[in-house]
Amino acid sequence: DMGGHDTYMHKEISEQADAVDRVLRGRIDDRFSTVHLGGLNLDAREARGIRRVKILGCGTSYHAGMIGAQLIEELARIPADAEPASEFRYRNPVVDPDTLYVAVSQSGETYDVLAAVQELKRKGARVLGVVNVVGSAIAREADGGMYVHAGPEVCVVSTKCFTNTVVAFALLALHLGRIRDLSVADGKRLIAGLRKLPAQIAAILETEDEIKKIAEEYAGAQSMMFIGRVRGYPVALEASLKLKEISYIHAEAYPASELKHGPLALIEPALPTVAIVPDDDLLDKNRAALEEIKARSGRILAVAHREQEKADHTIVVPKNETELDPILMGIPLQLLAYHTALAMGRDIDKPRNLAKSVTVE
Ligand code: F6R
Repeated sequence: DMGGHDTYMHKEISEQADAVDRVLRGRIDDRFSTVHLGGLNLDAREARGIRRVKILGCGTSYHAGMIGAQLIEELARIPADAEPASEFRYRNPVVDPDTLYVAVSQSGETYDVLAAVQELKRKGARVLGVVNVVGSAIAREADGGMYVHAGPEVCVVSTKCFTNTVVAFALLALHLGRIRDLSVADGKRLIAGLRKLPAQIAAILETEDEIKKIAEEYAGAQSMMFIGRVRGYPVALEASLKLKEISYIHAEAYPASELKHGPLALIEPALPTVAIVPDDDLLDKNRAALEEIKARSGRILAVAHREQEKADHTIVVPKNETELDPILMGIPLQLLAYHTALAMGRDIDKPRNLAKSVTVE
């Protein structure tokens, strides 16, 4: 049942304020400015012993894991990174007892992720699952974890589950941080930020008509470039994946800092750039990248916290705490991909060559 929407993708994008409300519900502890995650099976002593976090997933879940790794490193000061599960599994990785492994999957059935979990467990590692589908194979195989409570996701491409997974990682990072060195003040600040998310998401969704107009301008493009820095880079990767999956427009994502090391050669009027430009400590750097692109007559769409002069269009999103900004900046770009694909007459819920869950190698 699409509940009055033309596609499941549109329905699922539109459900995100409620979905984020669900992932937060019952987990916030104001007394200690932390969050409770009952299913982790990881006590405080064990949590303090973690020396490294390795996050594994595929596709969109891998991108959510990249943001998760940044959140964990920033809030809990534990070195963390994300890697595609399939790459990890085939490179005979060093499996270390002081590393916490986290497997991320919407379906909980993706074979490459499941196989990585099984291999890790065989070697005695501790593996958590960050999973949407309750009782799925990865959820059962993991030592513990958290459900992301996005609700059923029917469209082949993931939207609301991506957002909820990133919020789930923010909760995990806050939890680990408050067991270690994150201050009460920072805990409070982030909890207040998390509570603001549903209303801010609703506000972004209200700008859909404006995003649709922009999408219709870009619908004919042969190729598009997505750039961001640090927190903005996984957002760029995910937005680029979403666009290519449903519109079949070729898209690339690069860290903005890498532009001058090669991809700047591609910039010309026919290759539009989508730039993630948050109001954070990297704002000036990001603006410099816009100037470089403008100097080559490249068209620019900025996703930012205020209007960007160098951009042809700016989608302004509400500001939250810096660490949580990527959660909101991804949402208008889901709508951008959606309306671009719609304008091109694509079969949005069932893109060619793709399946919702990849249970084979
Ligand atoms: C992208 C997409 C895929 C999945 C990937 C992992 O929109 O849907 O890239 O994210 O196949 O699937 P899960 O999360 O079910 O393990």
